[in-house]
Amino acid sequence: MRTYLITGSNRGIGLELCRQIHNRGDNVIATCRKASEELKNLGVRIEENIEISSDESITNLCEKLSGVDLDCLIHNAGIYEFNSLENLDKSSILRQFEINALGPICMTQSLKHFLKKSSKVVFITSRMGSIEDNSSGSSYGYRMSKVALSMAAKSLSIDLSKENIYVAILHPGLVSTRMTGFTRNGISPKESANGLIKRIDSLNKKNSGTFWHANGEVLPW
Ligand SMILES: NC(=O)c1ccc[n+]([C@@H]2O[C@H](COP(=O)([O-])OP(=O)(O)OC[C@H]3O[C@@H](n4cnc5c(N)ncnc54)[C@H](OP(=O)(O)O)[C@@H]3O)[C@@H](O)[C@H]2O)c1
Repeated sequence: MRTYLITGSNRGIGLELCRQIHNRGDNVIATCRKASEELKNLGVRIEENIEISSDESITNLCEKLSGVDLDCLIHNAGIYEFNSLENLDKSSILRQFEINALGPICMTQSLKHFLKKSSKVVFITSRMGSIEDNSSGSSYGYRMSKVALSMAAKSLSIDLSKENIYVAILHPGLVSTRMTGFTRNGISPKESANGLIKRIDSLNKKNSGTFWHANGEVLPW
């Protein structure tokens, strides 16, 4: 039985990752700011009041995790705020950078001592953070934060390879969640989480540091 820590687990893709990983018999530590009824009903270990961008929150989490070995750390929590060229809001761009890029990388550093040989670190980034794939422009804060996250994750994959810890950089697809206004064009969180788990299961020393779509396609940087 392996132990997975998943951030942003109270709703959306994070909640579904918790459900599917728990249902197959692995241990889940679900972190969130405030647990939803759906998360409470899963019967997994929940750590509340975890604000990704707060050092104090992460220090408290580390104290609570004392004695735990993590097989997999999944950075799923994130925000999307729309910034057009006409309406560049610096505070919004900085907030997205702090939560989407800086938070996960600092959290990985703080939790590194809970990882061991063959542990995995997973970053839920976005295709919107692909420079080559950008054909629609705009969304400055989100795109900049996710490309920064992907770069940090790639560095981490190189730095942690010496310790045989593997890193996946994953796009979940266009998913019908609160983030996308529950778009009808998206796939369900269930389908997305199912694909993400397949990618995480197939992560190894050789393919560490790859940027994948949940459906298995390798994405361009
Ligand atoms: N949905 C898509 O189509 C799509 C596409 C590409 C990438 N993604 C990425 O997939 C991940 C999950 O997205 P989703 O679609 O499931 O979105 P969602 O339904 O909006 O869920 C976002 C989650 O992140 C948490 N969160 C946000 N800010 C946080 C903070 N400062 N500290 C702690 N937790 C925080 C939220 O918690 P609260 O409930 O407390 O706000 C919530 O649990 C994100 O990283 C997103 O960028 C999604």
